[in-house]
Amino acid sequence: MTVLPEGFLWGGAIAANQAEGAWNVDGKGLSVADIAMYRPDLDVKNYKGHMTVTTESVLKAAKDTSDKWYPKRRGIDFYHHVDEDLELFAEMGFKALRVSIAWSRLFPTGKELTPNQKGIAFYKRMFHKMNELGIEPIVTLSHYEMPLHLSLNGNGWVDRVVIDDFLRFCQVCFTEFNTVQYWLSFNEVDSILRHPFTTAGIIPDQCPENQEEAVIYQALHHQFVASAKATKLLKEIIPNAKMGCMLTKLTTYPLTCKPEDVELTLKKNLQNYFYADVQVFGEYPRLTLNALEKKGIVLSFEPDDLALLKAYPVDFVSFSYYMSMAESTDPNAPRTPGNTVLGVKNPYLPATDWGWQIDPKGLKISLLELYDRYRKPLMIVENGMGAKDVLEEDGSIHDPYRVAYFKAHFEQMKEAVDEGVELLGYTSWGAIDIVSAGTSQMSKRYGFIYVDIDDEGNGTYKRYKKDSFYWYKKVIASNGEDLGD
Ligand code: BG6
Repeated sequence: MTVLPEGFLWGGAIAANQAEGAWNVDGKGLSVADIAMYRPDLDVKNYKGHMTVTTESVLKAAKDTSDKWYPKRRGIDFYHHVDEDLELFAEMGFKALRVSIAWSRLFPTGKELTPNQKGIAFYKRMFHKMNELGIEPIVTLSHYEMPLHLSLNGNGWVDRVVIDDFLRFCQVCFTEFNTVQYWLSFNEVDSILRHPFTTAGIIPDQCPENQEEAVIYQALHHQFVASAKATKLLKEIIPNAKMGCMLTKLTTYPLTCKPEDVELTLKKNLQNYFYADVQVFGEYPRLTLNALEKKGIVLSFEPDDLALLKAYPVDFVSFSYYMSMAESTDPNAPRTPGNTVLGVKNPYLPATDWGWQIDPKGLKISLLELYDRYRKPLMIVENGMGAKDVLEEDGSIHDPYRVAYFKAHFEQMKEAVDEGVELLGYTSWGAIDIVSAGTSQMSKRYGFIYVDIDDEGNGTYKRYKKDSFYWYKKVIASNGEDLGD
């Protein structure tokens, strides 16, 4: 008997905006991802966080018709390589693939009343192929790819009307792709505070002065309501399907056992849980509402909002986990970047070239914490290591660092399951190399499959199997028992 349950959903994950490319093909409209500029050589020591935009920079980028500085416009051209890529995933033995649907491929501006049929045809083909290959789709409805038009007209999720636009999109997805059983509403729903434009189309200079934070929380509330309404709709259209929330699990340790460090850390972790709390428990935590009120932020609820949240919680909890960080009351404690955060350095942990602290034990801790808190099945839908890979002349790629990263994380994942955590599946991030969300670099690679494109889009777009490809294949075939030496 294997530690992991039979039917465990082993696989990988990608997002439309970082993989598909074809940004202006077959009627697709511009999305916020098409505005994301290439940010090379991110200085780890002077990390300033995710990209920031102004109305002027967005309009300028929107007018630019080339993809030169906008790598997400070309992605890895998954749009035209979909069959080949899915076959490679099947060769690795994938049981599941997490993908997202580009909203602006179905509704170019977000405002149309009927969808773009060419967009529907692409995704139908993709799901059909996955079905043929025995790969279960896990579909994110909103993964950093809101139609740009909605951002420029109403400031994205700030305008409550977007809930209706989003539900029109959901209705089409659930009706047209009704074989899909696993859905996620908002990718890293908590990320709206860290990068409001990428996540929710919010352009800071369009918020009333000094109101940016309040406006973001209100937009977040609109997303919570939209998620509950989408869950309701899903159950009406595909009764057995499951809706999950998706959280960036930012596990934080106190740097010391000084009670002040512990309190600060507790608050950081509670802030991280807040988003899933709303979507799982169907209500706002009193501590969060109180903290917001103290900052002068009072959310505006419509009469049915709270009842809706309560009536339509999610069925399972999914999350991304890449790194952990520490926290300290000492303002001079050295800091290092993580997944769009700047945490305190943990002296016990190594880090990637981008400064993200590698912590396999933190994955087990996260699984135990999340399961004990929510008592709902969990799914790890993103985990992996961004690294610079070298394509050898013979077409091989030797990536022992990636194998070591995954092996250590799988050991911890298995321990958590052995201790009682109910885990539905594991999809590694960027199972095939895709454009980085944070830096728009192609050279930050996560995949088991190498794609021959550089940061500026030069290359053959040919796919190569890395050493980790063969290793992951064995892991899946043995349901996680064979992790190599
Ligand atoms: C997650 C996002 O936060 O991290 C992905 O959901 C993203 O879209 C991933 O790609 C890794 O981040 P990055 O910046 O290394 O691509």
